[in-house]
Amino acid sequence: MNSKMNRWRSSSFLINKRFNFSRKEVLKYLSKKTIDSAYNKISSWKNYKPTPLLNLNKLNKKLKLGNIFYKDESKRFHLKSFKALGGAYAVEKVSKGKKNITISSATAGNHGRSVAWGAQRLGLKCKIFISQYVSKAREIEIKKFGADVIRVKGDYESSLKECKKLTKKNGWQIVQDVSDKNYKLVPRLTMAGYSIMIKEISNQTNKYITHVFLQAGVGGMAAGSVAGIARYFKRIPKIIVVEPTNAACVLKSIEKGKMTKIKIKKESIMGGMSCNEMSLIPWHILKKATNFCVSIDDNQVANTVGMLASKSFSTNKIIGGECSTPGIISLISLCNNKKLKNILNLDEKSNILIFGCEGDADKDLYKKLLLKSKKLNDN
Ligand SMILES: Cc1ncc(COP(=O)(O)O)c(C=O)c1O
Repeated sequence: MNSKMNRWRSSSFLINKRFNFSRKEVLKYLSKKTIDSAYNKISSWKNYKPTPLLNLNKLNKKLKLGNIFYKDESKRFHLKSFKALGGAYAVEKVSKGKKNITISSATAGNHGRSVAWGAQRLGLKCKIFISQYVSKAREIEIKKFGADVIRVKGDYESSLKECKKLTKKNGWQIVQDVSDKNYKLVPRLTMAGYSIMIKEISNQTNKYITHVFLQAGVGGMAAGSVAGIARYFKRIPKIIVVEPTNAACVLKSIEKGKMTKIKIKKESIMGGMSCNEMSLIPWHILKKATNFCVSIDDNQVANTVGMLASKSFSTNKIIGGECSTPGIISLISLCNNKKLKNILNLDEKSNILIFGCEGDADKDLYKKLLLKSKKLNDN
């Protein structure tokens, strides 16, 4: 185990003053029916199988905690990320069996890959828009699913703007995972797809989960998981949302009690989570269901990727990309702070759930992070 781990710290921590979890309220925004239809459909897909729920059976000893469960989404179909559950499912639902339509989407990477796969599965044409910041490796992965990839100058928002413009002009069908007041159906379907992870977990362990760490970009994955918790878990755990320091839009929104756009000073290495504004339905779900928000810097990402691979946390070798690290980093950081550890009631009775959201979805970056972690530990 890395001896420097006891120096890890979170960059901010917030207690949600408006916390008031209500299953009924959560399921008002993502209904039981929507959640159940997603499970019924996706679990019938060829090659569907639940991803492993691993036990970080070395880290729990180090931190003096009960169990630390790690949902390993690197094994999600052949897409290596939980996003496979969202976009592809939404494509199937919105295309309603039609064959002569073109699907479009803007993406930071994994969502577009899922949409492209969903279109390919159904024999539909697909146009995926990416910003100048999306890596070549991610572009190649999307192209493998037969989509045309259009690279747009500027950031994610520029790619979305261009996608919307061309979609309107050409009569394509857009499949976006971000909702606003005029666009709710597809994001809702996407989140319902993500809630499957919780259904699987509820079958994979009979231990009561006491704490869940959910990483957030626009909040879709976190809110979809919270809806799954409301639907499937018998007891509601403490819900902790984790974001990169430079993109803590959920933390800011919860602090202010309203959806708040932030300015990203520097893009986080956790690219899928580098978002400046929440999606609307996730906001409605997370604003009261979240107990705590934590933000973390990028500086332990490489180390954590390396430690997952070198069996430092578990007897299993785990392939976890950059977005698989925030749960572990924040858990360790919180345990290093006695006051926060107490506030969260983190102790030997705790059963913690962490999401390893992606594997080596960006192969080049994964290799770089492994190399960096090796160098850090050689020094
Ligand atoms: C690869 C990846 N993309 C995106 C996200 C963020 O999801 P969302 O934008 O739905 O909050 C995550 C969450 O950790 C992720 O792992």
